[in-house]
Amino acid sequence: MESVLHTRLAGLPEPRVGKVREVYDLGRDLLIVATDRISAFDVIMANGIPGKGRILNQLSAYWFRALSNVCPNHMISSDAATIEALFAEPHPELIGRSMIAKRAKPLSIECVARGFITGSLFKEYKASGGRIHGLDLPDGLEESSKLPEPIFTPATKATEGHDENISFKQAADLVGTETVEKVRDWTLEIYRRAANKCADAGIILADTKFEFGETEDGLIWIDEALTPDSSRFWDASRYSPGHSQPSYDKQFVRDFLESIRWDKRPPGPALPADVVERTYAKYLEAFRRLTGLVAPE
Ligand SMILES: Nc1ncnc2c1ncn2[C@@H]1O[C@H](COP(=O)(O)OP(=O)(O)OP(=O)(O)O)[C@@H](O)[C@H]1O
Ligand SMILES: [Mg+2]
Repeated sequence: MESVLHTRLAGLPEPRVGKVREVYDLGRDLLIVATDRISAFDVIMANGIPGKGRILNQLSAYWFRALSNVCPNHMISSDAATIEALFAEPHPELIGRSMIAKRAKPLSIECVARGFITGSLFKEYKASGGRIHGLDLPDGLEESSKLPEPIFTPATKATEGHDENISFKQAADLVGTETVEKVRDWTLEIYRRAANKCADAGIILADTKFEFGETEDGLIWIDEALTPDSSRFWDASRYSPGHSQPSYDKQFVRDFLESIRWDKRPPGPALPADVVERTYAKYLEAFRRLTGLVAPE
């Protein structure tokens, strides 16, 4: 299997190209294509993980379907025949990795739910002596501790660099109180349901990031849903608080990059075949454990 690293679709305007996905304007709707690109430390590696984009797209589709009763979402179809029918020519490279989505106007905040404290929030917790403005966190949390209750921590969308955590009040100033209350409630409800499903599969959903957008028919959940790119998944059998946890999906990539003492500056190096294979196996394992399906289509 070859990696799909880029797509170009004649007849459509150039896509908006993110680190992993390419978003095409279909006129009324959007076509979101998940490539096989993989990033580590925010840099894209020279080669891809063949099949990774299909797994990511189908995981999103799985969650959008499973959680469609919590709130409306943007998924219209990820069905092969429907995607093929968009084009006069065959596009086998798109199959399994594409979703037709309802266009929305993305809110200017990212909505993060956390059940465990790690990453940027743990850094802020340490730096502030446990007093993060607007969050009532207990004293004495260690890195990767479980929080007493899942919390909502909105962030700004940085066009460059890392998103920045903001308070609920700052988020309300950006999108309005009514909107932020609604997306907070949705974010926490999606997190709770997904975390329970993950727990049944032996996976800890440490935290996850959502986007919501405005449409004529009101707010909807957009972008991706609970993928390894938007979430921290930990293997429950290896969980031990007090330090950072191994990444479920990218650990082999990170270990390799460390072994070659890469300086974390672009361009990313090429990953050797065994790292590619073992990384794909982790994505596939996550897909199987979470969806109960054997393989993506
Ligand atoms: N239904 C939708 N309507 C409008 N925009 C959407 C919709 N779903 C996703 N988007 C936008 O499409 C983009 C998805 O692209 P992608 O995630 O690949 O890039 P990115 O977020 O800019 O960069 P990164 O690679 O850091 O994630 C995001 O900007 C997201 O806000
Ligand atoms: Mg994104």
